[in-house]
Amino acid sequence: MAALPTIPTSEIVEESRAPDSRVRTMVECGNLMAVRGHGRDGGLVVLDGGTGRAMAGGCIWLVGAGPGDPELLTLKAARLLGEADVVVYDRLVGDGVLDLIGPSARRLYVGKRKSNHSVPQDEVNRLLVALALQGLNVVRLKGGDPFMFGRGGEEMQAAREAGVPCHVASGVSSALAASAAIGAPLTHRGLAQSVTFVTGHAASGGEPDLDWAALARPNHTVAVYMGLTTAPAIAARLIAAGRARSTPVAVVENVSRENERRLVTTLGALPEAVASLSGPVILVIGETAGLAMVEEIDARIRKTGTVSREGQA
Ligand SMILES: C[S@@+](CC[C@H](N)C(=O)[O-])C[C@H]1O[C@@H](n2cnc3c(N)ncnc32)[C@H](O)[C@@H]1O
Repeated sequence: MAALPTIPTSEIVEESRAPDSRVRTMVECGNLMAVRGHGRDGGLVVLDGGTGRAMAGGCIWLVGAGPGDPELLTLKAARLLGEADVVVYDRLVGDGVLDLIGPSARRLYVGKRKSNHSVPQDEVNRLLVALALQGLNVVRLKGGDPFMFGRGGEEMQAAREAGVPCHVASGVSSALAASAAIGAPLTHRGLAQSVTFVTGHAASGGEPDLDWAALARPNHTVAVYMGLTTAPAIAARLIAAGRARSTPVAVVENVSRENERRLVTTLGALPEAVASLSGPVILVIGETAGLAMVEEIDARIRKTGTVSREGQA
């Protein structure tokens, strides 16, 4: 396969108005132009700017990589990785998953760099669209599930606005994998009739603005993503809103990876329990986390307030 050209995203012109009345919107990338409203059915046509000839359009697949273990990947995700022309991936994708990318595919990393800054989301959106407009089969590989705190929705919207076909292959989200790892279901008859997935981090950084009274209801599980640094604040808010200090909390770090760590504690002891962790971490707060405690470590928790269980199969 020929080497792919570098795509300077600054050359992309989005949603410009076209003078031709048959054309509703155009997106340009290098010498390629995607024209919506130009086809017989008013659909998308990709034109070669040099010859003006229509070309086959590419597409974007938002693919869930799961929490790390390649065995948690769906068969569909594995097939898409093998067939992709280019894979755009970020930080929380496991190495074993990357090994499934076909040998001729180009790999583009857009996660956190040495500077600790990720590629801005707008730039990722433009890159995905630009690659697809080259007629490429683009896989956007994201940790866990693309639609669970993954900004997959923004990427899908960008594709739709450009008229680029975009599909989603679900992945195992880390809260589901954490629940399995700890042996504590997210819902359980008599213990939790509902579960809420929340972010522990506000978009602007710091504590999230959540409905603490609703989250403090008993018999309800709260699964927290991105909540490691704000865990003490989250525990304090829930306790202030009426959730018992003795409410069990399961903490799973690096779910499904070789360095996975599991810990079961209580809401009152949570700040101390997470102090030595560096993440990524899922918190499972609620009565169902107590199933793991009751069966395996309840007595020790009562004595020490927290028990760490590492490397358990
Ligand atoms: C930006 S969110 C992405 C969530 C992802 N889309 C999912 O469905 O799991 C990142 C957060 O997901 C959680 N996470 C992702 N991978 C994880 C893992 N292997 N172990 C524990 N938590 C993980 C952490 O809470 C992390 O801060």
